[in-house]
Amino acid sequence: MKPFYISLKPFLNHGQLRRPTDWHAVFANSHPLEVEIGFGNGEYLERLSQENPRVNYLGFEQYCERIHRTLRKLSRGGLDNVRVLRLDARAGFERYISPLTIERVHCLYPPPWAKKSDAKHRLFTGNFLKLVNSRLVAGGVLKIVTDHYPYIAWTQDNVGDTGFKAEFKKIPASYSTKFEKKWVEGGRSEFYELVLTKIEHRDVPLKEDTLLQTYIIDHFDPDHFSFKDYSADGVAVAFKDILYDAKRKIAHIHVIACDGPLTQNVRIGIFYTPKGWRVNLAEGGMLMPTQAVARALQCVHQAAIDG
Ligand SMILES: C[S@@+](CC[C@H](N)C(=O)[O-])C[C@H]1O[C@@H](n2cnc3c(N)ncnc32)[C@H](O)[C@@H]1O
Repeated sequence: MKPFYISLKPFLNHGQLRRPTDWHAVFANSHPLEVEIGFGNGEYLERLSQENPRVNYLGFEQYCERIHRTLRKLSRGGLDNVRVLRLDARAGFERYISPLTIERVHCLYPPPWAKKSDAKHRLFTGNFLKLVNSRLVAGGVLKIVTDHYPYIAWTQDNVGDTGFKAEFKKIPASYSTKFEKKWVEGGRSEFYELVLTKIEHRDVPLKEDTLLQTYIIDHFDPDHFSFKDYSADGVAVAFKDILYDAKRKIAHIHVIACDGPLTQNVRIGIFYTPKGWRVNLAEGGMLMPTQAVARALQCVHQAAIDG
């Protein structure tokens, strides 16, 4: 049988990485670092890392399937200067990348969220541009390419005081990524490129981890577990499901925890121990200890007490 992956080395479990990460230590060299946001099936990431062996590349992508395809490509080429994370780029920049450490950021065809009601999901807000600026070295560059002109116009409007100089141009298809090929097959020949060069530094501190508590309660009745969803100050927690194993006296609660745009699936366990029922994170998740995760634990604890 053919192996699915030749090597999983390029894939990093963000739950086990230090925050912020010492990327020189990860790559075991002092080469410059570049980032690709939303690398999709990895065509561009593969090409960049092949063409520039003395540059380290870090990719952020959210879709598992696309990460799988990328890993297959990367391992075929035996590339050692590239690492990928299954992570929202916003959390990646906030927590895993120290200020003034990246040379270039690439983003090809970010989702344009073309409907007016969806515009709130767009990535390159003024705040995100400031965050990227803070992580770039002096003179560092962020390049965004899209097929959707309104998205570029919206991004240009957000540049304002983010510390970047913007240069816009129309370009032909130049990258042969999955999405670009799709637009070309659909008849498009004109694309839009925005290059933002860092001219002033913006200070955005690293986001710190939140301490996660373990709770002990005397009594727990899974039949009367009633969870109240929570939402305040950009933190939200919503209940999804509870599973209870009566024989082993273990409940698993699944909630969604959101810190602004960062959404995490959180599994919390309620386990019987001779000292009482212990409420803490279930093992095996790839979680970042954020305020919303701490709040999720608090909400589950409260629901278990109220039940
Ligand atoms: C339209 S696709 C383009 C993929 C690839 N760059 C290409 O040209 O084929 C956009 C990709 O960006 C990823 N993405 C969107 N928002 C992201 C975010 N905040 N962090 C990381 N990846 C993101 C999506 O999962 C998706 O794979």
